[in-house]
Amino acid sequence: MTISATSASHHDRAVDPQFKQDVLNCFRSEKRAIPARWLYDYAGSELFDAITQLPEYYPTRTETALLKQCLDEAAALIGPDRNIIEFGAGSVTKTPLLIEATNPAHFIPIDISGDFLRSSVETLKKLFPQLPILPIEADFMGAVALPDTIGKSNNIGFFPGSTIGNMIPMVATDLLRSMRFTLGDDAMLMIGFDRIKDKDVLVAAYDDRAGVTAKFNLNLLTRIKRELACDIDAGQFRHIALWNASENRIEMHLEAQSDMQFTISGEVFSMDKGETIHTENSHKYGISDAQTLLRSAGWTPLEAWSDRDDYFSIILAQAKPIPFAP
Ligand code: AVI
Repeated sequence: MTISATSASHHDRAVDPQFKQDVLNCFRSEKRAIPARWLYDYAGSELFDAITQLPEYYPTRTETALLKQCLDEAAALIGPDRNIIEFGAGSVTKTPLLIEATNPAHFIPIDISGDFLRSSVETLKKLFPQLPILPIEADFMGAVALPDTIGKSNNIGFFPGSTIGNMIPMVATDLLRSMRFTLGDDAMLMIGFDRIKDKDVLVAAYDDRAGVTAKFNLNLLTRIKRELACDIDAGQFRHIALWNASENRIEMHLEAQSDMQFTISGEVFSMDKGETIHTENSHKYGISDAQTLLRSAGWTPLEAWSDRDDYFSIILAQAKPIPFAP
């Protein structure tokens, strides 16, 4: 999956000017932060795949098991012949479950990375040779024009993986609103939310014993060095995952282990020992927080399914008619 990522899969690809800008802005400002989407170059995406298999990283297996449990009930509410619009390239494990259960008319995955889109479409075409698959290479953070051939109604959005948690609530609301706009007035949305839970469980999921999440986080520095003519010593940083209780989120940071000076594209920067670069937020939701977020973006929750431990929830929502009066 990619969160609106760029993921250049070959090292000789041109550098995204936005990446350069975001990295320079990060080191020029006092509060150093880089948008999380830059974690997903080719190596980062492979490391993220490895994360989803880790014993400590419960979200992927919990959501997949939950989908298997709830899909009969969900399919009865969704009905057949819908157009499934997936926000993301199409998860090779979760998407087939939804397709099998609901027998859709079309499947339309939307992702900014053409590479991911092509590879997941190839897999899904083999699994469902009869299903028309119409991939769209676009940034789904804004409204996306769907193909005319599918008509203007009967759409269901699919946004698994708790990717919504990687956005601050204001951006999450904007995204859910533009999904409402993209999908239309009679649409449904099936979306995964990672729940607030024991702090130790959360921190372990983002700081695993095998150090895969640390590699994923540190890979950002490798990318910066490779793509932006940078001489930063990546070995002088350590991965940190912390629970920010007031924001209900896990934060990933890279902490400098010594005072240092380095150059990025000819510009000199310094960091002191103990200073960090903030690289990702992963917001966790109470069930009513998740429902309120959906409502504030024009979605009425119809049903919510959670696992036994309340680690993860899948919510099915219906587009709410836009009222003329309060
Ligand atoms: C993609 N996203 C939902 C993951 C998460 O759990 O927030 C990204 C991730 N970062 C570290 N581990 C996983």
